[in-house]
Amino acid sequence: MKRIASLLVAVAMPVLLVAYTPSTSRQGGEEASPIYGLTIPAGYRDWKLISVGRVVGHNNDLRAKLGNDVAINAYREGKIPFPDGTIIARLAWHEVTSEENNKALRDVDSFVAGSATNLEFMVKDSKKYASTGGWGFAQFTDGKPDSEALHKTCFPCHEPAKDQDFVFTRYAP
Ligand code: HEC
Repeated sequence: MKRIASLLVAVAMPVLLVAYTPSTSRQGGEEASPIYGLTIPAGYRDWKLISVGRVVGHNNDLRAKLGNDVAINAYREGKIPFPDGTIIARLAWHEVTSEENNKALRDVDSFVAGSATNLEFMVKDSKKYASTGGWGFAQFTDGKPDSEALHKTCFPCHEPAKDQDFVFTRYAP
């Protein structure tokens, strides 16, 4: 009986190790952001849509804000401040002209999402991030966290949105 048990352990161990590996090595997400120590949350690309935006100027881009379930529920219930566990993702892409769409639509200019620019997250943990309004910030370019200097600019620039718990984006109807 003992021998069978140890045999089972010997067989099961490598299987457990293999099964565990993918979650720790998902697409470039294992390196943490400076100051806040945040990694790219698994499955964020499947989260629900909060809203979209477009920024024209030095960076012409299209943006989508997605939220995890805690974020979406808080938005729908109008809960401010956002509860701990809230994560808001900001995805952005270079805005490019779609010749294909233009041909089909005729007298219009159609723009679509091109290559990705950077990826941002705000994570609510009111104790851990008490000095920055309860929010941890992270920005990644090509899956790698951006500089510490850049991460120092996040919270001060979000302060004007204090009445909305430092979040600019409203839930799109
Ligand atoms: C120059 C001011 C400024 C800086 C610096 C800044 N943000 Fe923002 N952020 C904004 C504004 C304005 C919006 C809403 C407009 C948009 O991006 O669509 C926003 C939106 C966001 C959103 C979506 C939620 C929301 O508040 O609307 C996230 C997530 C985010 N920023 C993360 C970051 C992170 C991480 C950093 C630092 C690496 C950062 N931001 C730096 C101004 C700033």
